[in-house]
Amino acid sequence: MVFPYSTRRLSSTEVEDILAKLTQELTVTTDRIRTIIKQFNEEMDKGLDHEGATVPMIPSFVTGRPTGKETGRYMALDLGGTNLRVCEFHLEGQGKFSVHQQKYVVSDQLKKGEMRHLCDFIADCVDNFISEHGSDHLDEALQLGFTFSFPVLQTAINRGTLMHWTKGFNCSGAINKDVVVMLQDAFLRKNLNVNIAAIVNDTVGTLMAHTYLHPETTIGVILGTGTNACYYEKATGIKKWKTEKQFDDMVINMEWGAFDNERRVLPLTIYDNKLDRESINPRQQIFEKQISGMYLGEIVRNAMLHLVDQWMLFNGQSSADLNKQWGFETAYMTTIIADNTPALASTEHILQDVLQIETTTLEDRQIVKHICDLVARRAARLSAAGIAAVLSHTGDIDRPSVVAIDGSVYEFLPGFENNMIIALKELFGDSIQNRIKFALAKDGSGFGAAIVAMVAHKAATSS
Ligand code: BGC
Repeated sequence: MVFPYSTRRLSSTEVEDILAKLTQELTVTTDRIRTIIKQFNEEMDKGLDHEGATVPMIPSFVTGRPTGKETGRYMALDLGGTNLRVCEFHLEGQGKFSVHQQKYVVSDQLKKGEMRHLCDFIADCVDNFISEHGSDHLDEALQLGFTFSFPVLQTAINRGTLMHWTKGFNCSGAINKDVVVMLQDAFLRKNLNVNIAAIVNDTVGTLMAHTYLHPETTIGVILGTGTNACYYEKATGIKKWKTEKQFDDMVINMEWGAFDNERRVLPLTIYDNKLDRESINPRQQIFEKQISGMYLGEIVRNAMLHLVDQWMLFNGQSSADLNKQWGFETAYMTTIIADNTPALASTEHILQDVLQIETTTLEDRQIVKHICDLVARRAARLSAAGIAAVLSHTGDIDRPSVVAIDGSVYEFLPGFENNMIIALKELFGDSIQNRIKFALAKDGSGFGAAIVAMVAHKAATSS
């Protein structure tokens, strides 16, 4: 029997057992990935066939690819990740452009307050930006592309109603409302001569921005605070639209974060279930909750506390900081996964100095590192499953193609891309690496939104 506060070192067999159990719980086998891809393809078909499916497969009204010849000055707003970004792009043609941009912090209060207040805040930021960096041609309305990275059911390139919030946002008075109308009203209230020409999901912006310079790009993916993907679907594939289609293909915003909300195939552990139950959107965005930056640290925290409660970690002692929901940031995982010092010194720093855990042994730190490795690897393999499902759906799995990816999880978690490639090789053989390329499309979504705004504005003024 072990008493609280007694010091007990784990034997090497005990440590091995703990590591093996965690590995077993948090590993997604190749067979499981195959099952997930099959289910993913079925869900994609449902979303293209009718409204109301779990993976909604939302037509974005973006048709055709940018050519790089586009010119003009366009503004972009980017809301949905950690910050609000306001930018002005000067497209110079021949794939060249320059940009001014400014980031603004969106407080937690704004994220969970009234939508009207959030819109007024955004309008203030745009106002401030225009006074500091703005164009000199203020007599004509500035055209703006609005990257709004939440599930929006679009009815036109500049119209769309919010289906539900994700990623910790929860403003009242926004669901089922047209977000463009609400923001445009806030601009009017402030006498801002700015016209929202397009509303664009961040995946769509990322795809557009990357296609501008690399026409062979087929998918846009975000692996950041949240996760999602978009791709070009053939007009005939969008079966839920019964009317005649005047385009060859259209970008579909999949909203894949909602995949498997029914919990049929994803490998959910007690750590995932605890996270979901305590989140502000239980039983929603289940795929996103296993992959994205908002959640990975919390899964690690849950796994650590489970071991603490069994006296298998930190001698049964937690700390006030570790006990707090969201107390273990996903950014810590980056440091811990990269920590290859013999004593795991950076891991010790995070656990003891940052999280105030009184003392840790080398075994403790090894266990924590193992958890971080496993949770990150599982996220990478699930992301690869999503990408493989899209590539299989379009047939691009057999052709050379580029997947444009943005987001902190992909950019900063050590080994993330490599783990995705390993999963693809297990599924499709080593040669897949010669066909499918992943490319970091850093901060592309604002630029992509500006391009979409330009195309939309030109179409509106020429018709
Ligand atoms: C949102 C998507 C967005 C993704 C990445 C998800 O939570 O529902 O619209 O593309 O996050 O930002």
